[in-house]
Amino acid sequence: MSADIFSKVHDILKSINEVKIETMSELESFRIKYLGSKNEIKSLFGEIKNVENEKKKEFGQLLNDVKQAAEDKFESIRHIIENKTGRADDFDLDLTAPCEPINLGSRHPVSIVMNRIISIFERIGFNVAEEREIEDDWHNFTAMNTPEDHPARDMQDTFYLRDSTTELLRTHTSSVQARIMTSQQPPIRIIAPGRVYRNETISSRSHCQFHQVEGLYIDKGVSFADMKQTLLYFAREMYGQKTNIRLRPSFFPFTEPSAEMDVYWGLNNEDDYRITKGTGWLEILGCGMVDPNVLINCGIDPDIYTGFAFGMGIERQAMLQFKITDIRQLFENDTRFLKQFSGVV
Ligand code: PHE
Repeated sequence: MSADIFSKVHDILKSINEVKIETMSELESFRIKYLGSKNEIKSLFGEIKNVENEKKKEFGQLLNDVKQAAEDKFESIRHIIENKTGRADDFDLDLTAPCEPINLGSRHPVSIVMNRIISIFERIGFNVAEEREIEDDWHNFTAMNTPEDHPARDMQDTFYLRDSTTELLRTHTSSVQARIMTSQQPPIRIIAPGRVYRNETISSRSHCQFHQVEGLYIDKGVSFADMKQTLLYFAREMYGQKTNIRLRPSFFPFTEPSAEMDVYWGLNNEDDYRITKGTGWLEILGCGMVDPNVLINCGIDPDIYTGFAFGMGIERQAMLQFKITDIRQLFENDTRFLKQFSGVV
């Protein structure tokens, strides 16, 4: 009886030592068979009672050897398989194959022009101020000295939020002027880039959403001459050091006096005739001395402080610089269009 059981255990030891294990699933079967909760070796421990007393010790020793052999084999095979699956030659991987092309993004032409404008003004001490696109009529119109019956307030021109006569999508970045002047005292020197909305029919030349950059400078003794020099500096940095400007009298409710600034574009070819309507001049921005009523509305004393403001559209400048003829292309996100600006900063 005991000889039988000894030879059975020897057989198990032999098969543990000889079994070929090459895959994880084979290893798992091995583990269940010899190391699992109901493994073969465990059941043999129950046989000790059937072994003669003088051989009990030897039998116990043998079972421990078998158990140890199973554990050692499991660990060493596991190590081999795990290391092997980590090796490149186990994968279907061709290291000489050309890689998938990486598609680099590009800056949007509106961002390119906006960033250029921001950096020009930052160099002379203007800080960027960003404010909300959903505004109330006070910041967009009332504070900016725009009377109740002004046509710009009409539903035809302005997008109001549903069920609201006071909340709207800002129609110009001038609303940022009111936000800044009501929250800080002069000296104020900011530019405010951002998106604005007007209820306009979409065509190749106009859109219901576009971008502006606003400028505001308030301090003691700021004059019209300061504004002119600042804008001349801007025009020359943006359009070349030989660029000339002219200021034409104009009207905005929030500035007095007001002007529009043109840059001399030239009449070198047919395109120039078309875009400047034969004059050689291009209108770039609106500007003026901040109306004392605006200062009062925003809690700044007009007897102590004066200032100038200006606002310019971005899309038209982007279209001029990149010879884009249809404004809608700037909002369609067609990658065939956008890809052409790759690498431009
Ligand atoms: N807000 C004006 C517009 O949208 C531009 C402007 C800004 C004019 C500041 C004067 C001063 O047309």
